[in-house]
Amino acid sequence: MTKKAFQPPFSVHYVFWLGWKILIVLSVSLCVLALLRIQRYSQPPLSSRVSNLEFHGTPKVAFLFLARRNLPLDFLWGSFFESADVANFSIYVHSEPGFVFDESTTRSVFFYNRQLTSSIKVGWGEATMIEAERLLLGAALEDPANQRFVLLSDSCVPLYNFSFIYSYLMASPRSFVDSFLDKKEGRYNLKMSPVIPKNKWRKGSQWISLVRSHAEVVVDDEMIISVFKKFCKRRPPIDASKGKQNVKLQKQHNCIPDEHYVQTLFA
Ligand SMILES: *[C@@H]1O[C@H](CO)[C@@H](O)[C@H](O)[C@H]1NC(C)=O
Ligand SMILES: *[C@@H]1O[C@H](CO)[C@@H](O)[C@H](O)[C@H]1NC(C)=O
Repeated sequence: MTKKAFQPPFSVHYVFWLGWKILIVLSVSLCVLALLRIQRYSQPPLSSRVSNLEFHGTPKVAFLFLARRNLPLDFLWGSFFESADVANFSIYVHSEPGFVFDESTTRSVFFYNRQLTSSIKVGWGEATMIEAERLLLGAALEDPANQRFVLLSDSCVPLYNFSFIYSYLMASPRSFVDSFLDKKEGRYNLKMSPVIPKNKWRKGSQWISLVRSHAEVVVDDEMIISVFKKFCKRRPPIDASKGKQNVKLQKQHNCIPDEHYVQTLFA
């Protein structure tokens, strides 16, 4: 007898071989698919951005004004910017959609046409407020020269001259964000857990100064902002015609996103 007689028939071999081949082809295609997905999700949302280390040139401070309509203190800011080098700063304004900053509404040329075209309607105590902040930061990030980002309201005034503020901010590698734990307030909503655990909930002033990498963190955030949008609803005023429904409406969470969002995100 030759060795051959002990070998399994060819057909079993073939089925076995075919099975392996299908399995290998399948796993390879699954790997390729998985890689493609990872690739898609790891792409930065704004490809035009340049990181801190790559920028050479005169760094700018971006002044970001979050206004209701016009800027009542434009004349003060006007004289503040007059003593600055135009290469050292930039201005962005988020105001009521459609409001135009020109000679008929504004006393300082520095603000002409500085309104974001993407402005949205903002409601006090609603998540639209933090969305407007993110729009301002996003617009300012498009200019790689912007290295410090200062968020201001329409009632902020400069307490120091331009060169003092410029060198103060540029000399520090840090952001300035007021952030603390307020044990007495009940604005945290348990439904925000587990994305936002209770021990990470922070409170602080809306008016901040950020370095570029932190501004990017705020603009790129998808996770924390969506929780704020979902669970921070402004409590409506009591409406007698709604009767007993008021009890339920008043239980809605008033969490004042602008006093918590950036602080909680960084925590
Ligand atoms: C700006 O303010 C600083 C500090 O108050 C002062 O020392 C400096 O002379 C001022 N610079 C100009 C150009 O006014
Ligand atoms: C403008 O920026 C340059 C370079 O950073 C700096 O030397 C100069 O003092 C700045 N000018 C003002 C008015 O702050």
